Amino acid sequence: MNYPQSRLRRLRYNKIVREMCEDINILPKDLIYPIFVCEGENIKNEIKSLVGQHQISIDNVVKLCENLIDLNINKILLFGVVNEKDETGDIACSSESIIPKAVRQIKKIFGDKLLIIADVCNCSYTTHGHCGTIKNNDVDNDSTNKTLANQSLVLASSGVDIIAPSDMMDGRVKFIREILDKNSYEKIPIFPYSVKYSSSFYGPFRDAVNSEFAGGKRETHQMNFKNSYEFIREIEQDLNEGADAVIIKPALTYLDIISKVKSEFNVPIIAYNVSGEYSMVKSSAKNNHINEMEVIIEIMHSMKRAGADSIITYHAIQIAEYLKNKNV
Ligand code: PBG
Repeated sequence: MNYPQSRLRRLRYNKIVREMCEDINILPKDLIYPIFVCEGENIKNEIKSLVGQHQISIDNVVKLCENLIDLNINKILLFGVVNEKDETGDIACSSESIIPKAVRQIKKIFGDKLLIIADVCNCSYTTHGHCGTIKNNDVDNDSTNKTLANQSLVLASSGVDIIAPSDMMDGRVKFIREILDKNSYEKIPIFPYSVKYSSSFYGPFRDAVNSEFAGGKRETHQMNFKNSYEFIREIEQDLNEGADAVIIKPALTYLDIISKVKSEFNVPIIAYNVSGEYSMVKSSAKNNHINEMEVIIEIMHSMKRAGADSIITYHAIQIAEYLKNKNV
């Protein structure tokens, strides 16, 4: 049927009709909030390149979690910010390291009201800022896998709910699954960043974790964005090794990939709306070039429309407050 019998605007004239025809929505339950946990007490340092985001000590994380629960956000992703680092990241394999400590404290207070996902990588914990052990001027795959597995085991024994390896070593899901299973943590899921591109959109994040790896990319382990189909092999391998869901990042410039993963794999998808995507919105809004909230909501819908089941986003609190004010 064509015009004039068909008039697509008929479903757009009335606000209630528009709403009844919507098939995508954003709710607080779709959101995962990333938190940068640092050592010390009563610390809340704003991260310069991530306006509105902070490095916070465990006591302040607890206060923040109360606020999140009030806003119906029940999932957090933890990153460690440490004063002392080492050559390999093994420093994070101790139960006294910052994230295991934070996990125990959060679990003690909030139990299962809050799902804790831990990002597992060594780049926050190495003096050089690389994602693992350096051999012959590059990140060594297999020795790094051992550190990642040990870090995961400590997190599991601290009570973490989900392990999210973000390093992009080959075989890391296998290493982590094996060590968890051997130690009776077979119920803990692994959500790897299966599709993670070597991207300039991670720039502000490196500030957030005080990484020495300020410039540059991680092209020898993260994916090349000039490849359209490489993601298939990455996901197949991770699923074969025991991945339970996949994280895709960045998100906004990779909506095509999210959509393809949705149609080609039967696996839950989490999109990571990364630091550079957040900063672009913040800077533009600061200059009054865009309506910040409207743009954020549009971006979130684009990710869900592409196929994301949940979204990791620094905007989570803003969005939940907005939804609460609208009584959604
Ligand atoms: C750790 C890690 C990074 C991000 C999440 N985990 C940085 C990187 O891989 O370079 C980026 C997140 C963001 O930019 O918000 N490897």
